[in-house]
Amino acid sequence: MTYDGDYSFSPSSLYTHARKDQDFFTMKILLTGGAGYIGSHTIVELDRAGHEVVVVDNFVNSQPEALRRVEKIIGKKVKFYEADVRDREALSKVFEAEGSTGAMIDAVINFAGLKAVGESVAKPLEYYENNMNGVFVLVDVMRSHGCKNIIFSSSATVYGDPAMIPITEECPKGQCTNPYGWTKSMLEQVLMDVQKADPEWNVVLLRYFNPIGAHESGLIGENPNGIPNNLMPYITQTAIGMRKELGVFGDDYPTHDGTGVRDYIHVVDLACGHVCALKAISEKKGLAIYNLGTGHGYSVLDVVKAFEKVNGLKVPYSIKPRRPGDIATCYCDPAKAKSELGWEAKFGIEEMCRDSWRFQSNNPKGYEA
Ligand code: NAD
Ligand code: UFG
Repeated sequence: MTYDGDYSFSPSSLYTHARKDQDFFTMKILLTGGAGYIGSHTIVELDRAGHEVVVVDNFVNSQPEALRRVEKIIGKKVKFYEADVRDREALSKVFEAEGSTGAMIDAVINFAGLKAVGESVAKPLEYYENNMNGVFVLVDVMRSHGCKNIIFSSSATVYGDPAMIPITEECPKGQCTNPYGWTKSMLEQVLMDVQKADPEWNVVLLRYFNPIGAHESGLIGENPNGIPNNLMPYITQTAIGMRKELGVFGDDYPTHDGTGVRDYIHVVDLACGHVCALKAISEKKGLAIYNLGTGHGYSVLDVVKAFEKVNGLKVPYSIKPRRPGDIATCYCDPAKAKSELGWEAKFGIEEMCRDSWRFQSNNPKGYEA
């Protein structure tokens, strides 16, 4: 299977809720946190692949406008429930309402979570409470409605300072440097234990590397609140004049130019990775773990240069001290996702920079305007 225009794959005969539709099986997928950056792009790709999508979000870090934009792209309404995943009653109602349509929810992709690393250091309880409790309640409600298929948004952060480069899924998990990272690491363990205790569960842990970019329409993209923590939104906001200059955190790492190296992945490729990950559920793999990255590492200055070149812009920057908790180099070996799911990233750094800028320049105030 490839995901390039063809999402079909062989269904499992054991798969209970899959429905034959056209020449391949489709599923009904609940996206928690589906109004966010990665979720909104994933709705588009799931829809394109013929799946039915239901979204739950409480808009703690997103806006309804994102879903309206998605509707423009896919040309149809997005089925949406405003709810907090920690609200057991509200979540149960979603499962009941969907079940009463005659088509149960087949699988959940859990994007819902708080993700700002710095904020998690300042507000550990809020992060542990939202991210951990959200999954506890979700998984319990899923179980009581007979839905035992989950794809979980994990992160390369679980590898800590990685024991090997490129990072394969065999790389041991490491020490996280912040509460956000620990929520990912601990929730992976929780979901593994749930699957071990009840092998009817299919748990897919997707370890994302560094998602950047935006949908080519320029309608949806990353819309951070306040001062961005991450590199690409800081670059685009500097390029548009909202920030004076980019601070480059450290130029004395053991990398080719001294700045930190990461595996940036186009968010549309990442979204497609979720569609392909449904194959692991359809094949009833039990527990499956995949790195989603490109396998290429780019330094901070490589990204700045690529952004300037592709968009014909200047990004003023100055070198600042290292940011606490940062590592020198992080990029993956994505071979497992390719061989087992038929997925590989197809966009390069130039497309990522082009599409990030298109979203920023079309939406100088994000979704607000
Ligand atoms: P995002 O903040 O844009 O999206 C998360 C969504 O979840 C938001 O719409 C938010 O309103 C919602 N949400 C949060 N708590 C909720 C709750 N209790 N109930 C209902 N909705 C809730 O983030 P994103 O970049 O789209 O990331 C999606 C997931 O992927 C997150 O779990 C994040 O931790 C993980 N992840 C992201 C990155 C990254 O760099 N963007 C990297 C690795 C992993
Ligand atoms: N950087 C700068 N200046 C900035 C922002 C970042 O120089 O203003 C540098 C960082 O030092 C690092 C690189 O750019 O070398 C990337 O930093 P990001 O903050 O964009 O990304 P991280 O690799 O630190 O972390 C991100 C997410 C985490 C996630 C991890 C792996 O923020 O949540 O990717 O997926 F866990």
